[in-house]
Amino acid sequence: MRFCTLKLVAVLASSLLISVAALAQGKPNVVILATGGTIAGAGADAASSATYQAAKVPVDKLIAGIPDLKNVAEVRGEQVFQIASESFTNEHLLRLAKRVSALSKQADVDGIVVTHGTDTLEETAYFLSLTVHTDKPIVVVGSMRPGTAMSADGLLNLYNGVVVAGAKDARGKGAMVVMNDQIDTARDVVKAINIKTEAFKSAWGPLGLVVEGKNYWFRAPVKRHTNGSEFDIDTINSLPSVEIAYGSGNANDTAYKAFAAAGAKAIIHVGTGNGSVAGQVVASLQEIRKSGVHIIRSSRVMNQGGFVLRNAEQPDDKYDWVVAHDLNPQKARILAMLALTKTNDTKELQRIFWEY
Ligand code: DGL
Repeated sequence: MRFCTLKLVAVLASSLLISVAALAQGKPNVVILATGGTIAGAGADAASSATYQAAKVPVDKLIAGIPDLKNVAEVRGEQVFQIASESFTNEHLLRLAKRVSALSKQADVDGIVVTHGTDTLEETAYFLSLTVHTDKPIVVVGSMRPGTAMSADGLLNLYNGVVVAGAKDARGKGAMVVMNDQIDTARDVVKAINIKTEAFKSAWGPLGLVVEGKNYWFRAPVKRHTNGSEFDIDTINSLPSVEIAYGSGNANDTAYKAFAAAGAKAIIHVGTGNGSVAGQVVASLQEIRKSGVHIIRSSRVMNQGGFVLRNAEQPDDKYDWVVAHDLNPQKARILAMLALTKTNDTKELQRIFWEY
């Protein structure tokens, strides 16, 4: 009993110290933009960690569920959407990014957290990193379990997200994703596992960790982002259609032809291995390219530390194709949409895929 009392006193003292320190330093102002997902999900009982309804809990309830947030930042919330993230559209991306951009220009905002479903979290985070011109931290968080489940991960992910978003040492690193104590770049991170809390991985490693309210950095991003990006959400009001065609054995050209006929401006080819294209599909892709639709080669084998090599097994120069380098298909789609708002030139598109 005496040990428990001492432990409780120690915990209370440490949280008091944090709050005194925060008061002394002047806490940062962090805005939480909520969009839905599992972090706002609710299940029938505490044992339902994977069976639940996403996008149920409002942002104010999320914030109220984490009393310790007041020790690290002055926080306020906005409910931008309340949807499961598989339902995100380009219009959602544009509206969210424009809101983030507007807030980032406010003197009374030091950092922004976006709560989001994990299914397409990586795409939204990358889009924000490519289009919001700010040095202020933009942090996207989600959760793999609803708040109603035992060992729910959303509360700590959101707390950690606010810590990073309010931290001066997180400025200028592009948009980031904070999940499971890990800080990843929006560019590199992917949802690699669909039912574990350690779901998000970066092939080139995380930027760092956030532990008990402190950030520990181990590397910095090398690709262009935020203020260094040529894409500015304040000047973008629509996105061209870019579709994804998944490769496999017994490949055929049906999907590619359908996408081209439906008006796609580029098709992300998800090749086997090094972005390979089945021989029986090449002629159709050449026809599609001649019609003005770009072909961008990504691979099924991505996010493991490899990349699609230009002019290796496929004569990209000869066919006037682009390679997505190390970007997985869904990230390649985000970058291709933005690139096509600027240029239709293959060499320029390829430059953009090298640089972002
Ligand atoms: N429906 C999925 C989504 O909103 C749930 C996954 C999650 O948020 O973790 O992305």
